[in-house]
Amino acid sequence: MLKEKKTLVIGALGQVGRELVEALQNKYGADQVVASDIREPETFNGIFEVCDVMDKDRVFAIVKKHNVGTVFNLAALLSATAEKNMALAWKLNMEGHFNVLNLAKEKHIDRIYWPSSIAVFGPNTPKQQTPQDCVMDPNTVYGISKLAGERWNVYYHQKFGVDVRSLRYPGLIGYKSLPGGGTTDYAVDIFHQALQTGKYESFLGPDTTLPMMFTEDAIRATIEITEAPEEQIKIRSSYNLAAMSFSPSELAAAIKKHIPNFEISYNPDFRQQIANSWPQSIDDQLARNDWGWNHQFDVDELVDVMLSNLRESVLPC
Ligand code: NAD
Ligand code: SER
Repeated sequence: MLKEKKTLVIGALGQVGRELVEALQNKYGADQVVASDIREPETFNGIFEVCDVMDKDRVFAIVKKHNVGTVFNLAALLSATAEKNMALAWKLNMEGHFNVLNLAKEKHIDRIYWPSSIAVFGPNTPKQQTPQDCVMDPNTVYGISKLAGERWNVYYHQKFGVDVRSLRYPGLIGYKSLPGGGTTDYAVDIFHQALQTGKYESFLGPDTTLPMMFTEDAIRATIEITEAPEEQIKIRSSYNLAAMSFSPSELAAAIKKHIPNFEISYNPDFRQQIANSWPQSIDDQLARNDWGWNHQFDVDELVDVMLSNLRESVLPC
């Protein structure tokens, strides 16, 4: 990423982390990427360090040991899990972020990538083509922590010159790893169940439209924004980012084109209320203008690539 310095990924064993580490290793070499997580991997090819992001001394020791220049801090509790453990979600999502921001403020690292989310928006945010700047009144623990994190990004950039970059990811869907406790997880689970049992019971209602993205697009965006020349990064809070939007019934219809007997049923739970507070589509023109963002996967391509890859790994019951 920055010449002669390594890249550290914190939260490397999660849905985003696994794919990001693989992409960074392919690009820079396995000896240039340090993966870390609070838990040990079963198997791992490359450099791995166990680390709790809330332990600043441990993060600092890893940064020094490996001569790290750029840190991707992905460790967080996601929306659904955060509602069940408010105190830990706030502590992890804020304290972990501060630890990395402060390492940059103290000039131990040069650059930070930290993901935000569509969860920063709330019930009074415009639902369609949600603009970059508008009413933001998140009503989830997760959304409040992400919005606070965005404002700290701006503060640390303005006051201390910290080079922090961020994207508001939509719901992420990929076949290489499983999601970690979000409201959009149904859109991954549905593919596994469609192949295993031919049926899926959705925890969101049929017409719950949300912004979504294939993980390959999200990983590319993550690397592109982190590598972009500094003058192209005009927004330091977090950029809106978009690819597609769909509801569970629309996704089921797209899956049915490949698996005609697939059946979906609906049993909304507490995650419905979270989803109802989020936008349905996102205006990401500023990311497209400022650093050249362009998505490649729409819903039909997503369904194609998910089913063809999972077919090889998921055996029907
Ligand atoms: P995930 O839950 O799959 O992975 C998070 C990882 O962090 C896990 O491997 C976990 O073991 C690790 N972790 C937890 N506590 C830790 C700690 N104290 N120290 C170090 N590691 C710890 O999450 P994800 O989907 O990969 O999300 C990554 C980031 O992207 C998060 O900040 C999340 O808010 C953001 N995001 C994700 C999505 C999505 O749809 N996946 C959407 C918007 C934003
Ligand atoms: N996909 C994430 C979640 O549902 C959005 O940040 O929590």
